[in-house]
Amino acid sequence: MPQLLAVLALVSGAHAASSQSLPWRYGAFIDGGSEGSRIYVMRWKPSLDPEGEIICPEIIGDKSTAPGVASFALNHTGAGASLEPLVEYTKKLMHSERGQWAHMPLYLRATAGMRLLFPEQRESILDNIRTYFRTLPFLFRDDMASVATGEEEGVFGWISANYLMGNLRPDKVPNASSTIGSLDLGGASAQIVFIPQKSIIQHAFPLRLGPHQLQVYSYSFLRFGIREAAHHAAMLVISDALMSVQSENSIKHPCFSKGYVYIPKFSYSDQSFAPIQVSMKGTSDFEGCEALVKRIFDKNAPCLIEQCSFYGVYQPRVLDVKFLAFSHFADIAGDLGVPEKGRLEDLLVAARYVCSLSRAQLDLLFKRVQDETIRMHLCFHATFAVTLLHSGYGIEENDILFKSNHNGQPIDWAVGAMMYAINQDNKLSRPLVNVSTAHVLDV
Ligand SMILES: *[C@@H]1O[C@H](CO)[C@@H](O)[C@H](O)[C@H]1NC(C)=O
Ligand SMILES: *[C@@H]1O[C@H](CO)[C@@H](O)[C@H](O)[C@H]1NC(C)=O
Ligand SMILES: *[C@@H]1O[C@H](CO)[C@@H](O)[C@H](O)[C@H]1NC(C)=O
Repeated sequence: MPQLLAVLALVSGAHAASSQSLPWRYGAFIDGGSEGSRIYVMRWKPSLDPEGEIICPEIIGDKSTAPGVASFALNHTGAGASLEPLVEYTKKLMHSERGQWAHMPLYLRATAGMRLLFPEQRESILDNIRTYFRTLPFLFRDDMASVATGEEEGVFGWISANYLMGNLRPDKVPNASSTIGSLDLGGASAQIVFIPQKSIIQHAFPLRLGPHQLQVYSYSFLRFGIREAAHHAAMLVISDALMSVQSENSIKHPCFSKGYVYIPKFSYSDQSFAPIQVSMKGTSDFEGCEALVKRIFDKNAPCLIEQCSFYGVYQPRVLDVKFLAFSHFADIAGDLGVPEKGRLEDLLVAARYVCSLSRAQLDLLFKRVQDETIRMHLCFHATFAVTLLHSGYGIEENDILFKSNHNGQPIDWAVGAMMYAINQDNKLSRPLVNVSTAHVLDV
């Protein structure tokens, strides 16, 4: 202990406790998404007074790999090894900081793709990843590789958005009007997080950020990401067809364009088998598409606490909340040319338009959307996004920012997750001072 105090006194004495002059600390975070894994290597200025400051990491490099870890459900053997390119990338990037590796945390948080698996499959995959991570020279404990809960994923996105927008400051208590609500849309799940004007009755998530102790409303809808929603809609089309006398060849899907044949692919990888193979002819029909998408949302479920979004889920009023809609929401708005500072009405107009186009018109007018699968899904994605925001969450006249970056920094739950981890753990928020004497600080 005297040793520790001596070290701290030395540092604070020399630099008047200015965190800016302290050497960077580093860490890596893997976002194990349903569609692929991405590692973010980050750095941050540590603090001598973690209770008085909010520490924020910045990304210094990132790399992704596909498929996602959840695709190892039927054979977990390769799950850890599939992340090797990400680890090698990190070692190369951090080569000059080798002395810090043992203090550099390596996290993996998997998301909705893993939430959808059977528990035994999920644990086998995590065990395989942990076994691999234990062999690496970075700071790692088994609990650092896990599945994030939907609520955590949402809150981490909220932290990232609000930090980048300048809403999280040590001298201001974050409240309903000084923060922005976050809307995240992934492949398999969708998250809504905000601080309401009135108190939160359910689904409150407590949070410590520097001097602040706060609560946000956080809810995650598993299976309401765009891929899961597309599967769900396709299953409704198929079951409707089975109920009628239609032959399999004439199944029609209103959310795809005339001249396009849609063959839903129900799995996330080639390893798992598809339950059914059907082709559907697009009909370029917005009204039909909207009606189909609305059936995914159960608005009639009993609402046990007053104010519900859908499926009977409690949600405080969103009337005056400003929102930032990122990830796939921002991609969809961008693809459709909806302005970043938009309203729901703009997205609705764009959805109506894109859903009216034939395949040939779509190819011509949306040439800039280079990925053909995404181009063909524009109508479904736009209609789903509008329906989720409006019928689902009850958002109407609210200001919505559709964007995934702010001042060149990505709005991403992974950054928020790292920020959360650092601000909860003094071992990560404090300086190492001198790497070779760092054990002194590991109190
Ligand atoms: C699982 O994958 C590994 C590596 O890809 C392979 O060697 C093994 O044979 C597979 N096991 C099964 C049961 O398919
Ligand atoms: C919310 O925070 C802002 C900025 O700190 C402050 O001006 C405002 O009075 C606060 N509002 C409420 C309702 O506390
Ligand atoms: C860190 O500690 C080592 C060994 O105790 C010493 O050789 C080195 O000069 C120190 N580095 C700094 C920057 O103080």
